[in-house]
Amino acid sequence: MAKSDNLTRKIDKRLPGELVAFIQHAGRLADSKGERLYLVGGVVRDLLLDKTNLDIDLVVEGDAIALARELSDDEAGKITIHKRFNTAKINWHGWSIDLASARKESYARPGALPTVKPGSLSDDLCRRDFTINAMAIGLNPGGYGRLIDPYGGQKDLGGRMIHFLHQKSFIDDSTRIWRGLRYEQRLDFQLEPETLRLLKRDIPMLDTISGDRIRYEIECILNEEFPEKVLRRADELGVLAKLEPALKGNGWLAKKFQPAREASSPSRPPAGLYLALLTYNLNSEQRDKLISYLRLPGALTKTLQDTAGIKDKILQLADSKIKPSAVYHLLEGYSTQSLTANLIASDLPIARQHLRLYLDKLRTIKPILTGNDLMKMGVPQGPRIKEILNRLFDARLDGRIKTRQDEEGLVKPG
Ligand code: CTP
Repeated sequence: MAKSDNLTRKIDKRLPGELVAFIQHAGRLADSKGERLYLVGGVVRDLLLDKTNLDIDLVVEGDAIALARELSDDEAGKITIHKRFNTAKINWHGWSIDLASARKESYARPGALPTVKPGSLSDDLCRRDFTINAMAIGLNPGGYGRLIDPYGGQKDLGGRMIHFLHQKSFIDDSTRIWRGLRYEQRLDFQLEPETLRLLKRDIPMLDTISGDRIRYEIECILNEEFPEKVLRRADELGVLAKLEPALKGNGWLAKKFQPAREASSPSRPPAGLYLALLTYNLNSEQRDKLISYLRLPGALTKTLQDTAGIKDKILQLADSKIKPSAVYHLLEGYSTQSLTANLIASDLPIARQHLRLYLDKLRTIKPILTGNDLMKMGVPQGPRIKEILNRLFDARLDGRIKTRQDEEGLVKPG
C-alpha cells in the first residue's frame, strides 16, 4: 500500500519507461491546453496493489478526441475514434491507450446503457462500480502522481474489500454482479457485507441485461487465471443459475479446468474449451437455450455442439475392441477443442485412450496413393476408386500397411 499519496515511484516501477514518457507527455500537453488529465480505473487499482497492468485508461477533463489527435500526431500513433462516446484509442509502439472525456452518466432504466454527458473527474469516478476501481492519478505536471480517491478505494484495498459506491449500483448495472465476483476471486478479496447483501438482493435484476452483455462478462471470467473460482462463487450465490439453472460450479469443474490449462499451456485455454467443460453435463435443450440466450457466435456454438456429439458416442469409444479405423470414423470432423473437452471430461479410460490416439496420431494420417495413381494402375474411373481409397486408408489407420508398396499390394485393378 502507498505510504504517501504520490505514486511516481510505483508508476516508474510498474510501467515500461516509454509508456511513462508517453503519459507524462500527455499530461504536459493537456496542461498546455488548460485541461486536466488522469490515469483511472484498473491500472490505478493495480499500481496500488503493486501489480503490473498495461491497460492504460486516461480520462481528461476536456476534449479527449482533440487531445488524442494531437498526441498521436506527436508520437506517431494510430488513433481510432468513437465520436458518440467521446473516446479514442491510440495504438503506439504496440501499446494501446484509451482516452475518454470525463463524463456523467445516468440510467434511464435498470440495465439500459447509460446516458452520457460531459462532466468532471469527480462525476466520472462516481459513476463507477467499486471503490477500488474509482480512483485516479493526476498526470499534469503540477500534480503528477497524486492519488485522487474520493470513496476510500485505497482503504478498501488495504482491507481487501469489494465495496460498491452507492446502494443502487447493482440495479443501475447488474453486470456489476458478475464483475464483483470476478474481482473478489481474482484478488482474493471479500465482498463487503452490505455490498454482498445488495448483490444477492439484486440478482433478479440480471434479467434486465442483454445476453450480449452477459456473454461479455462470461468471456472476461474465462480470461481470468482461475475462472472456476468465480464460477463456484457464482453458483454458491445463485448467480450461475441465472445463466442456466442446471449449470454447476462445483469441484468437478475445478478438476476439469486445471487439465484444460495444462492442455493449452503456455497459452490460456480458449473460451470454447472452458465453455465446453462448463456445459458438459447439460442436456441438449438446456445447452441450446444457453447458446441462444448468450447469442454465442458460430464457432463457439459449433464447439459446444461438437462436444455433445462426441459425448453421445462415448460408450462406443469406450469399447476396447474397436479398431483405430472405427475410432477415426467416429471422431472425424469434430473440432480440436471439442475432442480435448471430451478427453478431459470423460471418466472412461478406454474412451480417453481412443480420443488421445485420434488427437495425437490418427487425424494426421493421410493415404499415399491418390485416385490418379489407381487409374494409372488400371482401376476404371467410377465409384470403385473411392471404395479402394477408403479401404487403403482404413488399412493404414489400423497399421496393416505402411509403405506405398504395401498400398499397391492391396489394389486389385480388376
Ligand atoms: N466500470 C464500471 N462499471 C462497469 C464497467 C466498468 O464502473 N460495468 C469502470 C470501472 O471503474 C473499471 C473501468 O470502468 O475500472 C474500466 O473497465 P474495465 O476495463 O472493464 O475494468 P478494469 O478495472 O480495467 O478491469 P480488468 O482489470 O478486469 O480489466
